Amino acid sequence: MRDHYRIVSLPGDGIGPEVTTQALAVLQEVGRRLQVQFEIEEIPCGGHYYLQHGREWPEGSFERCQAADAVFLGAVGHEVEGKPVLTKPGQPYPESQLAGYAPVIGNRKKLELYANVRPIKLYPGVRQQIGGSFQSVWRPEQVDYVIVRENTEDAYTGETQEIPGGRITPIVITRKASERVVRFAFRLARQRDKLGKVTCVDKSNIIGAHRLFRDIFTEVGRSEFPEIELDYAYFDAFCQWQLRNPDWYDVVVAPNLVGDVISDNGSTQQGGLGLAASANLGDEHGMFEPIHGSAPRHAGKDEVNPLAAILAMKMMLAWLGERHSDERLRRGAAWVEGAVAAVLEEGKTLSYDLVGPERAARCSEVGQAVRRKLADLETELV
Ligand code: IPM
Ligand code: MN
Repeated sequence: MRDHYRIVSLPGDGIGPEVTTQALAVLQEVGRRLQVQFEIEEIPCGGHYYLQHGREWPEGSFERCQAADAVFLGAVGHEVEGKPVLTKPGQPYPESQLAGYAPVIGNRKKLELYANVRPIKLYPGVRQQIGGSFQSVWRPEQVDYVIVRENTEDAYTGETQEIPGGRITPIVITRKASERVVRFAFRLARQRDKLGKVTCVDKSNIIGAHRLFRDIFTEVGRSEFPEIELDYAYFDAFCQWQLRNPDWYDVVVAPNLVGDVISDNGSTQQGGLGLAASANLGDEHGMFEPIHGSAPRHAGKDEVNPLAAILAMKMMLAWLGERHSDERLRRGAAWVEGAVAAVLEEGKTLSYDLVGPERAARCSEVGQAVRRKLADLETELV
């Protein structure tokens, strides 16, 4: 068993640093109580860093991420006077893209983090913001599925080309990337032992490349996971079923861009992006991040919800625990989730997105409430 773990932290832009601070404080608290040492190396990155230094992060940063036991990312994307900061306009990728995305997209691709795992889970006490008010549309037992998003290709290969009168961005689907992500999804369904079902969501009626994704899904499912039910949905139709009948789903697997959209969409059911966490996983590396962006409007105000970042930290603990057969970290993950669930159920210290502006607690207060709950739950859960 390891005596310490090395974590690279990439706080990034906007609200990234605020939520990362809270997630790391929770991590250190868990480490202190479980007597596991977490060495944190913070690396600046993002669009703001790009403006100052002409590059997205310091030289050698990728290698630092590669050498770490895990990477934690806040958010990237910076604005000046309401306009997103672009790298050199008019140049092919990555130069003409939104500045700061290299750490996200670059790490996903170069660390081969092929599965982006995005749980859609409703915790007791959480209401959904719909039509301008908070409502309890769903019960927690109706909303508990996991989106597994392919994380290295599809429309994210970045090779945009100029053509006369327009631009082309290709959609790339390969056998290798599809096989490994669908296999991951089937294994997860087996492990969850819930509905024993995987739903493949794509636009294969129109996009030829997605037809390959779907065919590989069928092939791998039938030959290697005969006990798992194969389910299919076109992306557009899925968006409405997902909102109407979340209880139909267990594990959902999708090409990259489709997975991006349906995970934001699904977050509505779990109380919004303020609670949506993700893990970018490969065979050798893991990077953990809240699904939300840098939300420049809210930056520096200590008002946003840190729970998505804290739940991403919980996913990091769980993954490190599995990978290193470290029971302390597995318990730590359950403990953090228990503390978050308790703060949500109590409903006293929550940010504006969950209770509205009048009753809202600050970002730092929510983080502190989670750390206090860790102490309260220590005898129960550890
Ligand atoms: C996400 C984000 C990213 C994506 C952006 C920041 C490039 O929306 O993690 O879902 O599109 O993958
Ligand atoms: Mn997204």
